[in-house]
Amino acid sequence: MLAGKHIALGVSGSIAAYKAALIVRELKKLGAQVTVVMTRHAKEFITPLTLEVLSGEPVLLDTFGQQLPRLQHISLAEQADLLLVAPATANIIGKFAQGIADDFLSTLYLALKIPVLVAPAMNKNMWAHPAVQDNIKILKERWVDIIAPGVGELACGGEGAGRLTEVSMIVERVIKHLAAKAGLAGKKILVTAGPTREYIDQLRFISNPSSGKMGYALAGEAQKRGAEVTLISGPASLSPPDGVRFIEIDTAYGMYQAVSKYFKAHDALIMAAAVADYTPAKQIKGKFKKSSQELPLSLVSTTDILTQVSHKKGDRLLIGFAAEVEDIIKNAKQKLKQKKLDLIVANDVSRPGVGFEVDTNAITIIDKAGVVEEHPLMSKQKAAQVILDKMECLCEQEHAG
Ligand code: PMT
Repeated sequence: MLAGKHIALGVSGSIAAYKAALIVRELKKLGAQVTVVMTRHAKEFITPLTLEVLSGEPVLLDTFGQQLPRLQHISLAEQADLLLVAPATANIIGKFAQGIADDFLSTLYLALKIPVLVAPAMNKNMWAHPAVQDNIKILKERWVDIIAPGVGELACGGEGAGRLTEVSMIVERVIKHLAAKAGLAGKKILVTAGPTREYIDQLRFISNPSSGKMGYALAGEAQKRGAEVTLISGPASLSPPDGVRFIEIDTAYGMYQAVSKYFKAHDALIMAAAVADYTPAKQIKGKFKKSSQELPLSLVSTTDILTQVSHKKGDRLLIGFAAEVEDIIKNAKQKLKQKKLDLIVANDVSRPGVGFEVDTNAITIIDKAGVVEEHPLMSKQKAAQVILDKMECLCEQEHAG
């Protein structure tokens, strides 16, 4: 289930460190490559040799350790698919939350852009302490997945919350993050992303701040779930996800032409692009010379792409976005109806951290029956997963119906 996946396993100084051996064994059984990173204190509880033998790889101990080539934390950060820290002490949790990088594991954490799972293990009073709970809150806000400690007998005596949760539950959580979902296998999905440019003259244009992040995240996630994906993108400084067919366009008209061309060959269209609603009535040839204080500009509306393709919808799914600043649900419902969509994903782009340019989004998904699902602020990656989970449900319903 984890073949081809590379897991960095951080082990910190808790009595539960011995369970790291069981975790390594289970992950290896599932086909993962496991690189163990131990803190100085973890070595007091379990020998690096044990973890080295079980993982079949050298254990990484210290940023400046003799056996490590320099900058190994950067190369591991680039190679690994996920960091699991089990057990995680109050100390390492505090370092992660506060950005302290004074050993290999805490430095690795700061260098990462992959999912991070943390399984705390400590005394019940330590776990309940506001300092620890505040740090946990900070990590959760940064999308670190906290595997809550179990309740029961503690090594320090007494009972309570704080013991490392069961190894099987930790492994299950890793699988949930990494195992390839194939829920869209056999489906062809067309995704649009980014802004369009509407030219006033050859050099100047009207545009918007869309970065393409939301649409690229959707394309990448659909591809991971087994779909054949075509991504039509306006100008964006992102690399298209691996394995995705990539079509670059510039203007709203170019987007309209490309969507019209590819729509029929796909099972679903997700319009995350911020397509201009208006374009200059006439484009001035060459470069307009500054001759007076005013430049009269007449704009005409662009073709509404979703409305156009909805006439040829057949049994394809149509998913639109709504970038709103007020009356979010009312306006989004109106667009859902007007554009004959199956789903609309509304985002309140006046909120900090939501919509254009940022790495996060808070979305409200509305379906044809008017059912409204509000989701909190999350990474665009996670938002893409939520949207595709919803789309998979629709595909299943259509199949069943
Ligand atoms: O790219 P990012 O920086 O990650 O930002 C993401 C985003 C804010 C661009 C994205 O989340 C988003 O909201 N995309 C839709 C933006 C938009 O144009 O919304 P709208 O409410 O104006 O349009 C409604 C829907 O009609 C959209 O699906 C749009 O793609 C579509 N449309 C718009 C104009 C047009 N001529 N044809 C269309 O099909």
